[in-house]
Amino acid sequence: MNQQSEIVLNYHNRTKHSLEHYAKGPDTIDWDDQPDPFRRFSGCELVTLPRPGAALPALFAELDTPYLIPEQALNRASLGLLLELSFGLSAWKQYGPNRWSLRCNPSSGNLHPTEAYLINTGTMLMKPGLYHYVSHDHLLERRCQFSDNCDDAGLLIGLSSVHWREAWKYGERAYRYCQHDTGHALAALRYAAATLGWSIELVNEYSDDETALLLGLNRSHDFINLEHESPDLVCRVHTRSDHAPLNTSALLETAHAGAWSGKAESLRAYHLYKWPVIDDISHAAKKWHTAAGAHWQAPPQRLIKSASTQTAIDIIRGRRSAQQFDSKMQPLPVDDFYRMLSAVLPAAKVPFDCWPWSPNIHLFIFVHRVDGLQPGLYALPRSTDILHKLKAATLADFAWEPVSDTVPLYHLYSGDFRQTAKTLSCRQAIAGDGAFSLAMLAEFNEPIAEQAWAYRRLFWECGMIGQVLYLEAEAAGVRGTGIGCYFDDSVHEIFGIQNDNFQSLYHFTVGKPLEDKRLQTLPPYGHLPVV
Ligand SMILES: Cc1cc2nc3c(=O)[nH]c(=O)nc-3n(C[C@H](O)[C@H](O)[C@H](O)COP(=O)(O)O)c2cc1C
Repeated sequence: MNQQSEIVLNYHNRTKHSLEHYAKGPDTIDWDDQPDPFRRFSGCELVTLPRPGAALPALFAELDTPYLIPEQALNRASLGLLLELSFGLSAWKQYGPNRWSLRCNPSSGNLHPTEAYLINTGTMLMKPGLYHYVSHDHLLERRCQFSDNCDDAGLLIGLSSVHWREAWKYGERAYRYCQHDTGHALAALRYAAATLGWSIELVNEYSDDETALLLGLNRSHDFINLEHESPDLVCRVHTRSDHAPLNTSALLETAHAGAWSGKAESLRAYHLYKWPVIDDISHAAKKWHTAAGAHWQAPPQRLIKSASTQTAIDIIRGRRSAQQFDSKMQPLPVDDFYRMLSAVLPAAKVPFDCWPWSPNIHLFIFVHRVDGLQPGLYALPRSTDILHKLKAATLADFAWEPVSDTVPLYHLYSGDFRQTAKTLSCRQAIAGDGAFSLAMLAEFNEPIAEQAWAYRRLFWECGMIGQVLYLEAEAAGVRGTGIGCYFDDSVHEIFGIQNDNFQSLYHFTVGKPLEDKRLQTLPPYGHLPVV
């Protein structure tokens, strides 16, 4: 194993929570000192977008066949919708004097480390250049003006992370959460594009250094020390009519030769604690340039239809994390459960049709209350060739009985796992009070030994699965919550996993939400002036 991969594995091991102690984090949190969740650049030309909140007819169930969704014309209104439905605000919550916003993409601790950038190379929408999206004001800040006759590569979206935003609250484990959030944001982008009849292509070629150059993140003098952004990924946005191949090096040259402006404003946080291990892992898990290659193709899979009749836009804007579940809920209909499971399989469907790599994440599910299913532990391998490895890596007395003709679900063990699931998830009641909760088990050692940066990709894949579950839960009239806090090796022990060939990287729970009536909900963009 190379040195980078070893650093990654060490980071992973030292950031495990256990029943005895949590991963290293701040001893105290000063809530007034929370980093600003909204980044702004001063000294940039601003580009306004039409007021958010527009409607679109596409139904959530129709996103299964995105090619049948009418393609929206590309203009500032549709571009604004793409950004709003991916990274924009979905509501404000108020409790007493405290007010906080929620977004279409979820985030661990609602800290939102992910920043989104638009690269526009045409002249029709706005001047060619690189733009930073300010979700709070739903506008774009032009960071770089490209030459008017630059190579036309259409539209691209870049994502980056301000690790400090998460580290402020979660300390060393925060780097993991930033990667989850990137996965959620990527899936949110894919769903938003599908709603407009568009698609997304993840550009796998770029190295982190190249992504940093494209997004201006390498311009260290434009950022306050400790508040820099780390490059994550770049995607191309395709309307149906524009599938010319991307000239990746021409785009880099365009950005390099562009006229840059703006400086990142302070996130107004006092950096009381420092977490150098995050910079170490960030450095070790750096992505290098990848030669253009064929995308992994999912084998055809039978997809169970969604029974939802709501529009996609309503589901996306209405997505929320449940804080508490009704532990006396009626069991979840088994058809809804199977639909959710079929939607997380890597078939060539939204959002996984933009994922160029073969699946490495498999689900171990604690079924608590699903109609017609015995409570117990189940497994959903997301690729057929992994079954024997999963069997070999887990407890010998798991039954591995197939339970359905429609999804590759296996019954492992019967029993009441409500208390176990709660304890494993840092004693959070939501893991036991819902219909089911689950662990996302990653093929771990092998991909990381091959390329240290695969560590990030594994979390991104988990985040994408999480986003599917969030939206599918809303569509089924229940609600989900991502769970980043769990006791890593206790989870492995329950499954009988004894080495790091497989590791649990994210948890999720679904149930019937109980609303906190003390909280007031306000519209997402009521603060924008009416023009
Ligand atoms: C990676 C990740 C980890 C999370 N972990 C937890 C958790 O352990 N417990 C919890 O109650 N919520 C958790 N959440 C939910 C967030 O707190 C929630 O997304 C955030 O407060 C924003 O609210 P929203 O999802 O309703 O927009 C997690 C979310 C994400 C994306």
